[in-house]
Amino acid sequence: MLKNTVNFENNVDQPRFISGIGQLVLPQRASKGLPRKPLRIIQNTWLEIENCKVVRYGGNGESPPEKAALSETIDVAGMLVTPGLVDCHSHPVFAGTRQNEFVRRCQGASYQEIATEGGGILSTVRGVRTASESELADAVLKRFDKFLIAGTTSIEGKSGYGLSLEDELKSLRALKKSASEHPLEVSQTLLAAHVVPPEFKQNADDYVQLICDTIIPAVKDAALAEAVDVFVEDGAYSLKQAEKIFHAAKDAGLRSRIHADQFTAGGGAQLAAAYQALTADHMDQTDDTGIQALADSSVVVTLLPGAVFFLGMSQYAPARKMVDAGCRIAISTDFNPGSAPTQSLPLMMTIACIYMHLTPDETLWATTMGGAYGVDRADNIGGLEPGYQADLCVWDAEDINYLPYSYGNMLPEAVFKAGKIVAASGKRINR
Ligand code: NIG
Ligand code: FE
Repeated sequence: MLKNTVNFENNVDQPRFISGIGQLVLPQRASKGLPRKPLRIIQNTWLEIENCKVVRYGGNGESPPEKAALSETIDVAGMLVTPGLVDCHSHPVFAGTRQNEFVRRCQGASYQEIATEGGGILSTVRGVRTASESELADAVLKRFDKFLIAGTTSIEGKSGYGLSLEDELKSLRALKKSASEHPLEVSQTLLAAHVVPPEFKQNADDYVQLICDTIIPAVKDAALAEAVDVFVEDGAYSLKQAEKIFHAAKDAGLRSRIHADQFTAGGGAQLAAAYQALTADHMDQTDDTGIQALADSSVVVTLLPGAVFFLGMSQYAPARKMVDAGCRIAISTDFNPGSAPTQSLPLMMTIACIYMHLTPDETLWATTMGGAYGVDRADNIGGLEPGYQADLCVWDAEDINYLPYSYGNMLPEAVFKAGKIVAASGKRINR
């Protein structure tokens, strides 16, 4: 913690210069995996913004140019500046919460037991099916504020609690409407293949056919998603069904994503690599062959340590091995009402440092540049080089190690989206 405070609320709304930066953190790009040195750090410097983008920054110990007028400068009093965080895996479209299941889990019931009894994902499906589109959009908008306040300036957001043509379209329309009214940048994904809807319990293949022939084309026509996701797991979908869905996604010109190897190792990593999926997510049980397949591919492995933690499981993804083997990783929240009701990426950094044996530098890279690769926008967000969108967080910290260290506490002092101050001191700013 530094001595100085800055009043971001009553200051320049869209500053041209940020001066007094104690450390400027610049995540680096890499043609493969993680860069050898993931972060470049400049001490005591400044940054210039024009037309929502970073134009340039100073060198170590450099003062801002003479021409920087006070009226368009904000002095951040020695604080740390990082890019805005990028969460490339979230499920923000749901109705109702599931703390009742949390209490049952505290008493010993398992997540899978609750699901088998018709709770879990299916209980949220009932909630979404009965909610109106505007009720969903209102709930999503409130959740967007929480992402922003926690330092997240871009997310990937999935449907997946509708599980019918109408309810998946309704979910994605609600997401799109909320995104159009909020500074958070959203990349939308269709997750019609989350679990098998009850009305198709005896004939899941017919539902897969419906996804391929009807839902994917309808979502594509309405421009409601950039990608299609499938949950491969016992009790959800098989590898064969996922392959079919990947083909339909490709035919529609959409990218593929996969939830796999969460509870059981099932070859999801290899499938993602073979189909050049954009991301392969969870990967908690992935074995050495799976790791190698991912390392040899361009797939971004999205680590979701918060879900492992919140489900009280012991097997975290073999992230250390993955990074060392050359996999490209992102770290995300998996924000959802069942296995990960958190929107805090700094908390995910902490869990990844402790249980996945990653360094703070690697976790900051994975929640900025890694996340940006995971939404296929690494040339625009996730970094702060000239030309990047001016999405950034100002933290009351001397260095980045303080972010995962001060666990559960870490909120940025200010959040900028495209050059504009949109949150400060734990509150959304809407001027
Ligand atoms: O990513 N793995 C599958 N689906 C979600 C959990 C959703 C829920 O419990 O509502 C996940 O963890
Ligand atoms: Fe998920």
